[in-house]
Amino acid sequence: MTTVPDIAPGTANPLIAPTAEGHRRILTGDRPTGPLHLGHYFGTLQNRVQLQLQDIELMIVIADYQVITDRDRADRVAEHAENLVLDYLAAGVDPDRATIFTHSAVPALNQLMLPFLSLISVAELSRNPTVKDEITHSRQAAVSGLMFTYPVHQAADLLFCKADLVPVGQDQLPHLEITRTIARRFNDRYTPLFPEPQALLSEAPLLLGTDAGKMSKSRGNAITLGADEDETARLLRGAVTDNDRHISYDPETRPGVSNLVLLIALCQGRDPHAVAEEIGPGGAARLKRTATEAVNEHLRPLRARRTELAADRSLLREVLHTGNARANAIADRTLAEVRTAMGTF
Ligand code: TRP
Repeated sequence: MTTVPDIAPGTANPLIAPTAEGHRRILTGDRPTGPLHLGHYFGTLQNRVQLQLQDIELMIVIADYQVITDRDRADRVAEHAENLVLDYLAAGVDPDRATIFTHSAVPALNQLMLPFLSLISVAELSRNPTVKDEITHSRQAAVSGLMFTYPVHQAADLLFCKADLVPVGQDQLPHLEITRTIARRFNDRYTPLFPEPQALLSEAPLLLGTDAGKMSKSRGNAITLGADEDETARLLRGAVTDNDRHISYDPETRPGVSNLVLLIALCQGRDPHAVAEEIGPGGAARLKRTATEAVNEHLRPLRARRTELAADRSLLREVLHTGNARANAIADRTLAEVRTAMGTF
């Protein structure tokens, strides 16, 4: 596990120098359940763009089969998938060099899940804290088999393209451990085929929602990338603060206030303590005004690009078609190798 070093575009990053096979590829992904928000942006999206600028091949899976882990239906899934493409491109992902694809369009990837399921025990799957947490928060009456086994599907996302780096948040680390275990066991049992992918954790501290809880679309506490400036202002005006007029940065004891300070610091590329000191006696009103200006200013170019791109839905679909074709070519090749390694037809 490691963090993304701050390296100028175009400079060789020692962490991601090519291996002997000249192979450097990162894969990460999102569930198409709604638009991306500031938590995604500072948590992984910026990293993806930065890594791509360093000439690392970027693969992004739009995890449509993961949508039905904790809900009965994948509502408006195609529309959400297209909107994810829109957010990626607006944030600076270059579609000519990145492969953006959906699970459901890559059969060979899904087939890899079968041998992979045989390489992990039920006990190992039941220990996964992220899955346990999702079961607790799920609105479904019964836990489905997919909820229990989707981390193995995620292993197929990573291993089908032999990704060696995964820019993700903390919550994904248990899944990555399962992937690494599966890769190791496959290599031991059959033929060495798969790298054990490594996590790249963002250096940015975790951004909370406007209610100081986990930022999430479904909780109504998230500022989406596509929100307009007025909506951003409205959401931030309603953000939770506290009764102490003097603004300081102390995430433990003042989560609401500190989260807004952090948001300003992330947007302005500054230290949160310096931001808090500057606002100091200005109180919550000034803090919220500053946060609104900081977010709107930082996102202005992204949002302008987003509006422009949104005008051409066919371009978004085209990016997905091209990405799916590329992912299929890679997955077919890997599945052929797996068949040979296992001695099946
Ligand atoms: N599980 C991830 C999420 O909920 C999405 C995802 C699917 C993913 N496949 C992946 C992330 C592979 C990293 C690598 O956000």
